[in-house]
Amino acid sequence: MSKRKPSTLTTGQGSCEPVLTLLEVDWDSESIIPEEIEGLLAKADSLLQSYWDSWHRRPIEQYVACDFRDVWRAMQAVKTQNLPFGNLFCEWGCGFGIVTALASKLGWDAVGIEAEEFLFQQAQAFLRSEKIPAEIWHGNFLPPGSQGLAKRQANHASLFHQIPCVYPKVSLGVDDFATIFAYPWPGEDYFLKDVFRHYAADRAILVMFLGPYELEIYRKDSK
Ligand SMILES: C[S@@+](CC[C@H](N)C(=O)[O-])C[C@H]1O[C@@H](n2cnc3c(N)ncnc32)[C@H](O)[C@@H]1O
Repeated sequence: MSKRKPSTLTTGQGSCEPVLTLLEVDWDSESIIPEEIEGLLAKADSLLQSYWDSWHRRPIEQYVACDFRDVWRAMQAVKTQNLPFGNLFCEWGCGFGIVTALASKLGWDAVGIEAEEFLFQQAQAFLRSEKIPAEIWHGNFLPPGSQGLAKRQANHASLFHQIPCVYPKVSLGVDDFATIFAYPWPGEDYFLKDVFRHYAADRAILVMFLGPYELEIYRKDSK
């Protein structure tokens, strides 16, 4: 069932450096989403629609939503194929917390991290109203020092936030999470992959949404 194709080395090809292995995870973009999850996503869709309708009043340039249904399908495959070594899941930049909610529905102990106060509040309210036992943390998902991994003069969206890093506040680190999800802005995927490669635990899984029908799933492998 699970087709895992080793190994596309994306970064860190030096001798003792950890590498990211691109996994070929079999998931079906046509598969039917369970009714309960469709119900949840219908509420998410209408929450987002009211946000877009009043966007001019509260423009958050960095917020764009992924394709929740495809992310559900891919994450379900990650879970059913037992790829993560543990149950802690983190969404880097969670917006309205919808992927965090989906991860919780799939059985992960899920956390979303968001820098924007308004989105943090919205994500918390969404989880509360849906009685989803996940957490939203307000802060920066980039660990201290990781900014230095960006190319010089890189203008990445994730580097803009002045809010402090969240991990010391909760006494956890990036390496406590077995699975991390991110939807990077175009051009910063290399940077978030490198942050993951440096700071995540060995064997951790990175699920990246890169655009419609474009999802990549990596595992960190230390030599
Ligand atoms: C492209 S949106 C993706 C939202 C959501 N993950 C999804 O896929 O639907 C990126 C989100 O990450 C947040 N973000 C960007 N950089 C961040 C950082 N360094 N720390 C915390 N949140 C960040 C933005 O505010 C925005 O809500």
